[in-house]
Amino acid sequence: MATLRDPAGLSLLLRKLGRMHSGLGVEERHFDDLRGALFWTLKTSLGTAFTPSLDRAWASLYEIMSREMIAALRAP
Ligand code: HEM
Repeated sequence: MATLRDPAGLSLLLRKLGRMHSGLGVEERHFDDLRGALFWTLKTSLGTAFTPSLDRAWASLYEIMSREMIAALRAP
């Protein structure tokens, strides 16, 4: 199983996930919508526990995941 401690394995998994999403009709622009929904959910659910450092950590993770998946959408 790919983990954050295995960036190469995680990249392969995310590229595969990106190709799978391409088959579902997911487009690049949808990743912004999902980011909005995800962060709204985190803020609403966690309240003050959603600290600035947690916010930055999630933003960084989402950026990495969506970048890999979008790369696969562009060149499946
Ligand atoms: C970083 C971004 C994303 C991640 C990590 C992610 C992850 C996943 C995973 C793990 C699955 C299940 C795969 C499986 O069944 O084997 C899935 C399914 C799915 N995802 Fe995503 N996804 C992302 C972005 C998106 C976006 C932007 C959309 C469209 C708005 C989307 C729509 C879907 C749909 C429609 C399914 C199938 C659900 C079902 O069959 O019940 N995903 N996603």
